[in-house]
Amino acid sequence: MKMERKERKNMQMEQLDQIVMPLLEWYHENARVLPWRQNKDPYRVWVSEIMLQQTRVEAVIPYYERFMKQLPTIRMLAECDDEQLMKLWEGLGYYSRVKNLKKAAQVICSEYEGNFPQDFDLIIKLPGIGEYTAGAISSIAFEKATAAVDGNVLRVITRLTENSQDIMDTKVRRMMTKELEKVYPEKERGDFTQSLMELGAMVCVPNGAPKCEECPLNFLCGARKHQTQLQYPTKKKKAERRNVEMMVLILHYQDKIALRKRKEEGVLSGMWEFPNLEGRTWENMAQWILERNIVVDGMESEKELSAFLQNIKKGKKKHIFSHIEWHMDCIDLICDSPGNDKELVWVTKQQLEGEIALPAAFQKILK
Ligand code: ADE
Ligand code: SF4
Repeated sequence: MKMERKERKNMQMEQLDQIVMPLLEWYHENARVLPWRQNKDPYRVWVSEIMLQQTRVEAVIPYYERFMKQLPTIRMLAECDDEQLMKLWEGLGYYSRVKNLKKAAQVICSEYEGNFPQDFDLIIKLPGIGEYTAGAISSIAFEKATAAVDGNVLRVITRLTENSQDIMDTKVRRMMTKELEKVYPEKERGDFTQSLMELGAMVCVPNGAPKCEECPLNFLCGARKHQTQLQYPTKKKKAERRNVEMMVLILHYQDKIALRKRKEEGVLSGMWEFPNLEGRTWENMAQWILERNIVVDGMESEKELSAFLQNIKKGKKKHIFSHIEWHMDCIDLICDSPGNDKELVWVTKQQLEGEIALPAAFQKILK
């Protein structure tokens, strides 16, 4: 007689309700005492979540305490001096985070009379706040059933359910957020959000073996059952970086240098740049110069100019973005006439250093 093999199926995404009670209980016993867990003031929760986005908990603590001491209210943040603000952030990096923090504080003052909005849909409209942060604030500060799915949480959930979908895929993250939100408890929703983060940070850890023996969810966990913990989460390999060869022109006319704005798409969209062309054909570069009636050494023929460009000494610079690598051949040219390209803006060295935000990729050429 054939024996039916009775094997309990792995926990499914739809069964996540089973994790709630054990997780909350574990959190109440084991949560770290952290300064932003003292109370549920949305301002305090918000600042902590922004600081924690790209910085480790231990590194954040002293910054957080100093920040809260100097700027204890949203209004003080909205009205603070930029110099003081940058000083408070110095060493944390990713300064757009703090610039958006102040911008959002100003919005909260002008549109909500200084009171942090409680609605997820309003929170997510604030500068610098995405799905994860909005979910975190609305559950931790306002006890709403909104999940905050970051890397820690994705690791816990994919291991529990042995889910090998690509966690870099927004659709997959949204699905997990939705499934989690279905099982949010009636009470202690903020604690539930933080319990998932905490488990990911302290027990179900990345890089190395998770501490399954201590895990309050080990009796439910598919990955533990099959010893496949390290296979999760699955991240699709990033596409390789594309190399882009380009020629960059530092055009000098009298005491000025030519800049232009980049297109509103792709890398560094809308930022200032030195005029440049992709590829390495000096004929194209010569043509570009002549078309604009820019005069270099009185040269008028494409052939002559292109030979000149080919032979001139070039500075070689490389700049690496997440998906692209620029290999730049940079040429200084002294112009006799600035030509007629309306997109070119001629600026002095002082303006370039003091007033204009030139992306790092081009800053390195100036050095
Ligand atoms: N990482 C992101 N949010 C956190 C929080 N509230 N507590 C601990 N670590 C976190
Ligand atoms: Fe993570 Fe292990 Fe807990 Fe599973 S049992 S959730 S792998 S720590």
